[in-house]
Formats: sequence, C-alpha cells, structure tokens
Amino acid sequence: MSQLKPVSHLDSIPSTPGKFKMDKSPYIHRLRWHSSLTKLTFWSFLFLGLILFFFLRSPSSPSPSDPSRRSLRTSNWGGPSWEKRVRSSARVRSRNGLSVLVTGAAGFVGTHVSAALKRRGDGVLGLDNFNDYYDPSLKRARQALLERTGVFVVEGDINDSALLRKLFDVVAFTHVMHLAAQAGVRYAMQNPGSYVHSNIAGLVNVLEVCKSANPQPAIVWASSSSVYGLNSKVPFSERDRTDQPASLYAATKKAGEEIAHTYNHIYGLSITGLRFFTVYGPWGRPDMAYFFFTKDILKGNQIPIFEAPNHGTVARDFTYIDDIVKGCLAALDTAEKSTGSGGKKKGSAQLRVFNLGNTSPVPVTQLVSILEKLLKVKANRLMLKMPRNGDVQFTHANISLAQKELGYKPTTDLQTGLKKFVRWYLSYYSSSGKKSAG
Ligand SMILES: NC(=O)c1ccc[n+]([C@@H]2O[C@H](COP(=O)([O-])OP(=O)(O)OC[C@H]3O[C@@H](n4cnc5c(N)ncnc54)[C@H](O)[C@@H]3O)[C@@H](O)[C@H]2O)c1
Repeated sequence: MSQLKPVSHLDSIPSTPGKFKMDKSPYIHRLRWHSSLTKLTFWSFLFLGLILFFFLRSPSSPSPSDPSRRSLRTSNWGGPSWEKRVRSSARVRSRNGLSVLVTGAAGFVGTHVSAALKRRGDGVLGLDNFNDYYDPSLKRARQALLERTGVFVVEGDINDSALLRKLFDVVAFTHVMHLAAQAGVRYAMQNPGSYVHSNIAGLVNVLEVCKSANPQPAIVWASSSSVYGLNSKVPFSERDRTDQPASLYAATKKAGEEIAHTYNHIYGLSITGLRFFTVYGPWGRPDMAYFFFTKDILKGNQIPIFEAPNHGTVARDFTYIDDIVKGCLAALDTAEKSTGSGGKKKGSAQLRVFNLGNTSPVPVTQLVSILEKLLKVKANRLMLKMPRNGDVQFTHANISLAQKELGYKPTTDLQTGLKKFVRWYLSYYSSSGKKSAG
C-alpha cells in the first residue's frame, strides 16, 4: 500500500527560497495541481480586485485632497470646431513670430505671458486644468481676459498625453512655455501628491511629447528660486549649490532641472529653466503673502509676520510681473532650436538656467508698511517665529547672467508694483459683486 503522506500546504513552500522539491507521485502531483489552480484563481481574483481598486482611485476619479487630479475628469476636447479654435489661436500674425504652447495659461504668470506674446503677434495656445488650489473663479476671469485678446485656453491636464499629442498634431509649435505646476511652499505638507503629479509626472509628460514632436519645439519652463533652499551665500547665483531644498515644492523644481538635463542630453531638446523670485502684481495668486495681507488688512484680521531666530529679518526679492514677463519673452526669443527629430538626437542642444529676480530684497515688515499706506488702513500685526514648513529666511537674486544673455533688467520697485497691484485688487473685488479672495 502506498503510503500517501497528507499534503500539507507547507510542502509547497520551498525549503530554500528559490528552490522547489520535485513531486514524484502522480496523485500528489494532481492534488497539488488542483490546489495550485485554486490558488492561482484566488490570487488572480485578488490581483484583479486590486487593479480595479487602484483604477477607481486613479486620476479619473475625484479626490478632494488632490485638485490637479480632479481636473482630469473635466477635460473635454476634440472635434472640428475645437481644432479650428486651436489653430486660430496659435496662428502667427507677425513676421518671424513664434507659435507658443503656454501651459498654466490661466495661472498668474501664464496669463501675463500669454497676453504679452499675443500682443506682439505671436501665435499662442493656452492649456490649464483649472484646479482649485486657489479660487478657480480667478482663473476663469483670467481665461475670459485672454479670450478677449484672442487666446484660447484649452482645459486639460499636462499629464494627458493624448491631448498633448493632439495639440502637436494640429499645430507645429515652435516653442513651449511651460508654467503649469503645483505652486506654493506650505501646501506641500498637506498634499504632497499634487506636487509629484504636476511638477514631476506632468513635466516628464510634456518633455516626452516635445521630444517626439516633429519638429521638436524649444522649451522654456519655470523653475524657482526655492531651489537655493538652505544656501546662505548671497546673492544667489546660478552656480551656487541647490542640493538642500527646504520644501517638497523646491525638491520637485530641483528634480525638474535634473530631468531637463536628461531630455536635453538624450533627445537634443533645447531647454531653458527660469528661477523666478517671488513674483507679484495684478491678477496675482491669492495664496501669496502680499495678496492675503491685502485682504486681511482690509478685513481688519491679524497679519502673521514671521521672524527669523534672534529677531532676524525675513526678506524677499519681490519681482514685479512685467519684469518677469520681459524675462520670459527674452528667454523664448533667444532659445535655440532643438536638434532632435522623431525622438532621436541629431546634435547637442542648448541647456540654460537663469535667475529672474529684482536684486533688492525687502523685509516682509516693509511690505506690510507699504500696503498700509496704499490701503490707508493700519495692519493688525502678529509677530511669530518662522515655523519649519518650507519657507526660507530670505531670497536675493544675482541676475548678471540673465542681464548678459537675455538683456534682462528689472525696472519696477516694490512701492510702484504694489500700487498697481492694490489698484487692480480694489477694482477686481469691488466690481460685479466679486467676493474678496477666500
Ligand atoms: N509666482 C511666483 O512667485 C513663482 C515663483 C517661483 C516659481 N514659480 C513658478 O512659475 C509658474 C507659474 O506660477 P504662478 O504663480 O503663475 O502659479 P499659478 O498657480 O497661478 O499658475 C499655475 C497654473 O497651472 C495650472 N496647473 C497646475 N497643474 C496643472 C496640470 N497638471 N495640468 C494643467 N494645468 C495645471 C493651474 O491651474 C494654474 O492655473 C509655476 O511653475 C510656479 O511653480 C512662480
């Protein structure tokens, strides 16, 4: 009588990882085959279930904590009349004009850059996902402003490769001004995924589509002064170290600079990174201090002003939007052509990084004093120790490289720029019953 050993599940576990015992009896073999089949079916169902679970949680399903994901669901594009609008918006109307795809066009900088390009006769097409990181009605108002100047802003996400490829099928863009990103230093602690989604995955997707486009466009994109992180050597020069980011936002911008290097090196994409220093002005971002200080001063709310250790001053190199726009246009105008085609590099291509700042840091306390005078309201100041949430004590740009290569020369001081901002703020939020920035 054959001594059949009861089959224990332990038998199917290899005695040594990677090694399986050979089965000799056909009965045991059948039994094991049967039990393996059951297990296989079980694991397949589990695997399918997991895929379904992640799929349902994927970008197409809204997540309240990730605004950039939520917007994917709303993208709605295609069709002959849509293509006609795309073509018309991107049509160049001046001799030697550029044809530019502006990502983040409904954003603060994107709106100003798009309008300036259109004014001088370049073809401009905008792309934005209108996420609700801050009040989307402000983005819609900027979109309406751009529509009036003839710029169509397509609603979609930079992670949508099919949409990007379609845009390149319809228009042979000569340039991409890539401004779409998850901005803000402090919000990175609340929603880190949105930074990875837009600033890393989104950037890679934009570069992937650009690398395969024929002809390849030249790319100018927004990095940030935040890449200088804990660097204490002032003023910040492009040659200074940028390997000590103080926030996830800064880390994603630094990663973007390295990713840009890779795409330049492998595919011959011409890429220029611009490190903006605290940009402010009309149609600005409600999450930035100058903007919410204005709102809170008018409402009589307390203004939290951060102080560095030992009563040290916190200062920023505030840069007026018109100066930033001039820097962006100069970067586009001086960008050399990409050298690759069909995803293959044909020769070395331009790779640049520039600081775009104002070169005169102003203490945040002085910013509040200027606002008090312009608004004719005394601020209710609350001095607080600077928390470790990603902010740095000061920023100060050395702009000699941008001066030399781009002819960049900022001309607006903080007092003058804030005056223009306050005039816009009062008119925007008092007209047509708009609520003040929330
Ligand atoms: N404003 C500043 O002080 C400053 C400073 C340094 C760097 N930057 C960089 O400059 C660029 C523009 O900044 P801004 O101040 O205009 O910010 P913004 O938030 O007003 O503009 C960014 C726009 O991109 C859009 N966007 C975000 N993720 C997207 C996605 N996945 N797909 C499509 N659209 C998306 C947003 O809806 C928004 O309209 C950003 O890259 C930002 O990181 C800005």
